Amino acid sequence: MPRKQTTKTPPRRPDSDRAHSSTVEDYLERILELINTKGYARVVDIAESLQISQASVTNMVQKLDAEGLLNYERYRGMILTTAGQTLALNITRRHQLLTDFLGLLGLEDNVIYRDVEGMEHHISAPTVRAIEALTEQLKRQPALLERVRTAAQQ
Ligand code: CO
Repeated sequence: MPRKQTTKTPPRRPDSDRAHSSTVEDYLERILELINTKGYARVVDIAESLQISQASVTNMVQKLDAEGLLNYERYRGMILTTAGQTLALNITRRHQLLTDFLGLLGLEDNVIYRDVEGMEHHISAPTVRAIEALTEQLKRQPALLERVRTAAQQ
């Protein structure tokens, strides 16, 4: 029997207009972090940091190069293009904001890190701004923050 055709359009996902996958964002985040801490990012460092094989990293880096997000030269390493740097800074900013926010709530570091690594790829710009505003308000109202932290631990 043929499957019944659905006429309803599915609700639009808030991040459906995002052009890049979580994997691409993770690579750019890690490459920027390596460049900021070591001054350069090599395939071997990325492989170690993301716990994947150097062959997979090379494939991905070549793909990112083809997409104009970085310039890669074998044996020489890579630099982020302006587009790649913009994306990397964006994901890094989301990572920091979410880490800051969940930290305020008193959650444990390992929980925060795991959750942030997932959440950072899936929240839309309006949600980022809302969490930013909430974080700001909580920092200004220690009594309220204390009540929230206490309630969260129950
Ligand atoms: Co992250």
